[in-house]
Amino acid sequence: MRKLVIAIDGPSGAGKGTVARAIAAELGYRHVDSGAMYRAVGWKAIRDGVPLDHDQAVAALASRSPIHVTDEAVTIDGYDVTRAIRTPEIDRAAAAVARLPSVRAVLVDRQREFGADGGIVMEGRDIGTVVFPNADVKVYLDASPEERARRRASDPAHTGGPSAVSDVVTLLTARDELDRTRKASPLYAAPDAVVVDTTGKSVDEVVRDVLEVVRAKV
Ligand code: C5P
Repeated sequence: MRKLVIAIDGPSGAGKGTVARAIAAELGYRHVDSGAMYRAVGWKAIRDGVPLDHDQAVAALASRSPIHVTDEAVTIDGYDVTRAIRTPEIDRAAAAVARLPSVRAVLVDRQREFGADGGIVMEGRDIGTVVFPNADVKVYLDASPEERARRRASDPAHTGGPSAVSDVVTLLTARDELDRTRKASPLYAAPDAVVVDTTGKSVDEVVRDVLEVVRAKV
């Protein structure tokens, strides 16, 4: 059977990671979290003292830094940043560098290489709109801000953040606003994406819904 390209987009806390991982495992595909790449670049820019709004400088840093993303680990330039990139500071840094067009160009090229042979589930903000506009399957996951904040607040991978859900709602809504209103590749559902509202649904239910979308395309 032909190996598909599956794009999963949506705002933070919509459940993209959990769902994308489960779909990839079910189909025997590779799962790539494109957000981890923006996070790794944001982490390295801070470490190297590169201003987070300097498009050319951050893009140069990104293009000379190999990034590896698997379900187990994220590395940039050989540094294991798996834990270090899941902090509120890096939430902000990733969203800042993700606004920069040249940085996006560098990372989008790499994301396209990952998907060149198909057999991939890639999650992010612009996968169905920019990275793989011809993806075989496009899914846009969403959920209410409260539910997304609750999930983020209880995510053990995310460290050092405010634990009160109301604080997380504020931070998460601010970051979504940045992602939705930026000039370069803003977050929106591709016209041909299937929109799945995950509010009040279990992971299993959402995975089942998405697998149905995938099977309908095969
Ligand atoms: O998904 P995650 O929260 O880890 O992504 C971190 C940031 O990276 C997002 O806030 C967004 O600004 C950016 N991003 C992006 N395009 C993607 C994936 C993530 O702009 N495809």
